[in-house]
Amino acid sequence: MSRPNYPSGKDLLSAEAVSQADLGDVLERADRHWIELNLADESAESQFVNVVRRRPKMVATLFDQRSTRTRLGFQVAAGRLGHQSIDVFDPDRSRMGHATGETIEDHIKTVEAYSDLIIVRSHLEDLPYKVARLSYLPIINAGNGSDEHPTQAMIDIYAIYKMRGDLSKLSIALSCDTKARFAVSFVKMLRLWPPQRFTLCCLPGIAINPAVREAMERLHSLGTLVSVVHNVVETLDHDVLSIQMQDMSKFSNASLGYDAVDKEQETEPFTITAKKILEHNSNTLILNPLPRFSELDTSCDSLPNAGYFQQVKLSTPIRMAILERMLSGTPWTG
Ligand code: CP
Repeated sequence: MSRPNYPSGKDLLSAEAVSQADLGDVLERADRHWIELNLADESAESQFVNVVRRRPKMVATLFDQRSTRTRLGFQVAAGRLGHQSIDVFDPDRSRMGHATGETIEDHIKTVEAYSDLIIVRSHLEDLPYKVARLSYLPIINAGNGSDEHPTQAMIDIYAIYKMRGDLSKLSIALSCDTKARFAVSFVKMLRLWPPQRFTLCCLPGIAINPAVREAMERLHSLGTLVSVVHNVVETLDHDVLSIQMQDMSKFSNASLGYDAVDKEQETEPFTITAKKILEHNSNTLILNPLPRFSELDTSCDSLPNAGYFQQVKLSTPIRMAILERMLSGTPWTG
């Protein structure tokens, strides 16, 4: 897919759009929102009297693909900032689409007239780029096909920082299908805060997605110790394991014509369970962008290692920080 330049820096379409200074600014803003969101009493709130609450802005969510966290998360973040949100993809009620004849171009021009920022999630890799070309408004890529999910990467980095501290001192593992968009953006974003060690846990015999391979090479060039393993237990000595195997079924040899394959046995090396964590006496922080699939057993939920629901909580201040930046016209400089 052709990559547009970011001459104005108005859009957040890829982890590549983000510079080290941008990430630092997002984390700083997120920390301020995190403190503010957790203030227990009103007297403490008085220290934030200088927070400027302007006329509410309108944030449009254009999601043609299912989402719980990203859609609700941005709507909540907008509300927490005193702004509002509208859903602008509604094939049953809007005029857009083949059945009613309104083009995406006209739809975007209409949405643009009603809103201040558009967040796009699509099964089409090109859609956020297309909307960014069509509209003068700032556009956020909230996940496009198997391309990228840059805001999730910022959430993941913030979650690691809040729960385990300075990333440059940490060993971080990622267990995934290397075509997963969260994984692509995560490894790309890590260049801005390279860990001491990075380990990719992935299926053997399947080529690593070139985007992930290149991002790992970049980490290596920045001094990170980079390696590849094929069993999740080999990551249990790391400080952090981010794990999501979106669709285990597609990893099965059965899909290649070996119907007799034992799928359970085949996917087991990529499943994390409480038993494995306890057997390895592991303190590894387990993250998962969610939703979980069979790679993350619910037996992990009661262990102190489980960081994935705290990760969801920490996503609000990051989304607030991203919206705050973009709604005030602060460009991405990566
Ligand atoms: N992590 C994430 O993108 O979740 P949703 O698909 O629910 O938005």
